[in-house]
Amino acid sequence: MANNITEQILKLKKEKNAVILAHNYQRGEVQDIADFVGDSLELSQKAAKTDADVIVFCGVHFMAETASILNPTKTVLLPDAGAGCPMANMINSIQLRQKKQELPGYTVVTYINSTAAVKAESDYCCTSANGVKVMNTIKSDKILFVQDQYLGDFISKRTGKKMELWPGYCPTHVKITPEDINKQRTEHPKAKVVVHPECRPEVIALADEALSTSGIIRYAARPEVEELIVGTEVEILHRLHKENPGKKFYPASALAVCPNMKKITLEKILESLDMMMPVVKVPEEIRVRAKACVDKMLNVV
Ligand code: 13P
Ligand code: SF4
Repeated sequence: MANNITEQILKLKKEKNAVILAHNYQRGEVQDIADFVGDSLELSQKAAKTDADVIVFCGVHFMAETASILNPTKTVLLPDAGAGCPMANMINSIQLRQKKQELPGYTVVTYINSTAAVKAESDYCCTSANGVKVMNTIKSDKILFVQDQYLGDFISKRTGKKMELWPGYCPTHVKITPEDINKQRTEHPKAKVVVHPECRPEVIALADEALSTSGIIRYAARPEVEELIVGTEVEILHRLHKENPGKKFYPASALAVCPNMKKITLEKILESLDMMMPVVKVPEEIRVRAKACVDKMLNVV
């Protein structure tokens, strides 16, 4: 009988033909046990291709829903059913339908950080990694961007497209302020600054780059980058340190913590695999419409 928790998870994972996918903001020990760690785009690409019977999603609810949208016959487990994304809950499908009535003829582009029901009401989906690329494929100049106003503003500036922006935001990223960036630059004058596009525009304006979480990981790996100030959720530093020994990384703000991402623990992963719950399953009527929106995104990249 396997006695340590990691061994027990690996044993059950094998027995159940499961794959463990983890987001870059997961606790270090959860990242270390995962088969794959990545950003939202990479995780949905992995979920679309896996031949495992069970997907253990170490992330937040909308990510597990996306895996379920792409894999209706597989069991998708979210080890803590309460791990949600507050931004995803800043709009629901009724509010979106109402907004669409106010804006006839608009194309709805929705951030992947959204519920399946909201995706089902949307034309396109995007992540922070491919938002600019997805937007550049859309001919219409009447765009409603749902629901991160700051990512929407970032994409609008990069593409030159004017958009209606739903006023959603990430409570974790808005904690990073321009004062934080200025302070870190003063303390670490040789360091580059990279932030997530969910940050406020004033913060993005002070950075050298704004990138998705895996974009930040790739930026840090560049040989010329020796010191980096990182404006996103602090747990990304686990992977940055692990993959770049000898380089220096500084969180822009120690307050940038996503409590929902921290809800997944090794104990909960073990229990989830053992009990085969909590299961995330998107109802078929919503899934089919949401899949059309997610597929358009996956076809662009
Ligand atoms: P990424 O797609 O960049 O990993 O971002 C996900 C997220 O929730 C950021 O807050
Ligand atoms: Fe949602 Fe922000 Fe947490 Fe990402 S960091 S899951 S956007 S609350």
